[in-house]
Amino acid sequence: MKRDAKTVLVTGGAGFLGSHLIDRLLGAGHEVLCLDNLFTGSKRNIAHLHGHPRLEFMRHDVTMPLYVEVDEIYNLACPASPVHYQHDPVQTTKTSVHGAINMLGLAKRLGAKILQASTSEVYGDPAVHPQPESYWGNVNPIGPRSCYDEGKRCAETLFFDYNRQHKLRTKVVRIFNTYGPRMHPNDGRVVSNFIVQALRGEDITLYGDGSQTRSFCYVDDLITAMMRTMEDTPDSFTGPVNIGNPGEFTIRELAEMVVELVGSRSQLVFQPLPQDDPKQRRPDISLAKSALNWEPKVALREGLTETIAYFRSVLTGEGPRVVLPASTLGSTAQTAAAADAPVRSGAEAAPIATAALAAVRQAARHAKPQAAPKAANTAASKTSTPAR
Ligand SMILES: NC(=O)c1ccc[n+]([C@@H]2O[C@H](COP(=O)([O-])OP(=O)(O)OC[C@H]3O[C@@H](n4cnc5c(N)ncnc54)[C@H](O)[C@@H]3O)[C@@H](O)[C@H]2O)c1
Repeated sequence: MKRDAKTVLVTGGAGFLGSHLIDRLLGAGHEVLCLDNLFTGSKRNIAHLHGHPRLEFMRHDVTMPLYVEVDEIYNLACPASPVHYQHDPVQTTKTSVHGAINMLGLAKRLGAKILQASTSEVYGDPAVHPQPESYWGNVNPIGPRSCYDEGKRCAETLFFDYNRQHKLRTKVVRIFNTYGPRMHPNDGRVVSNFIVQALRGEDITLYGDGSQTRSFCYVDDLITAMMRTMEDTPDSFTGPVNIGNPGEFTIRELAEMVVELVGSRSQLVFQPLPQDDPKQRRPDISLAKSALNWEPKVALREGLTETIAYFRSVLTGEGPRVVLPASTLGSTAQTAAAADAPVRSGAEAAPIATAALAAVRQAARHAKPQAAPKAANTAASKTSTPAR
């Protein structure tokens, strides 16, 4: 183990981004405590690490207090796609707000450094393009997406108040659309939907003329920026810092690239554009460039190739076993470019395949908050006094 190895808590560690972060943290020599309630995440995402001597998994809901000993905390626990976070909106807000309070309380008690995975959704339906961190956003506080958007905004507030009031070492990263292996095949994100449709040779549905643009960041680039924020910035650097890929592609370009890379015979079919479909979303990453010396390196074509290989293995049964969407995928959700792109109402999210919703319901039952667990039985999780 490296001399500067730390014990790191990753909440939401069995999810898409969390599992990649854990790969990298273990690779860097750290001890990792992966905490997850398995609502949208899965142990399959970390199955390749089974038996790793420096990884411990703990099933726990962040809305409940937690008493463990760690040096750093990455707080990622939160469902990220509209179909998931709108399933139980009250629980979504609790996860963001109570989860932040619990993790900040833990960090305060331990003197640990803590990073919040925030989102481009704090900008809402932005009136400024591209979005710099100084833009305060345009968020509807009472809509069906508010549980996520406002929950994340409140979590940011808490992070900055703990920093000002308690001198806690806090960092906030605002993540823009990210894709890659281990993303959910059935959560309505455009990248996974297009890939699965192309692999199956089904029609790919685009809305409007497909000229609306989106930006896509490959997961490896995202994790690099997240870890640099935590490890390589001074304590005075709190963020928020945008992390995303500013390269813009039209939805049509994305669909055509997917079809070409898959070698599929899928046809593009067009349907009317929903009225308030955002035309554009793109991060301003000037701050990440200067403060983190970071910019994305993985081209869309390259990242899609890796992601297609993953979904191909899932579909052929050689890869992880995951619940796949029914053949006719949700429609509006496809233009909602990724985890964070708008699906504007529960009704519009309705076309999401019944199988996907059934999977969400099953996961929700599985993930019900439990009473605060006894401390796990490892060095990473010695009990100590309650946080406040
Ligand atoms: N993927 C993106 O493009 C994107 C964009 C912006 C922000 N984010 C943020 O990054 C984080 C990770 O997103 P992701 O794409 O990996 O999503 P994901 O759904 O794959 O991962 C979220 C994880 O959190 C877990 N979780 C949910 N509620 C929990 C709770 N109450 N207690 C404990 N665990 C809980 C889930 O089981 C899952 O493993 C989220 O906070 C999300 O808001 C992601």
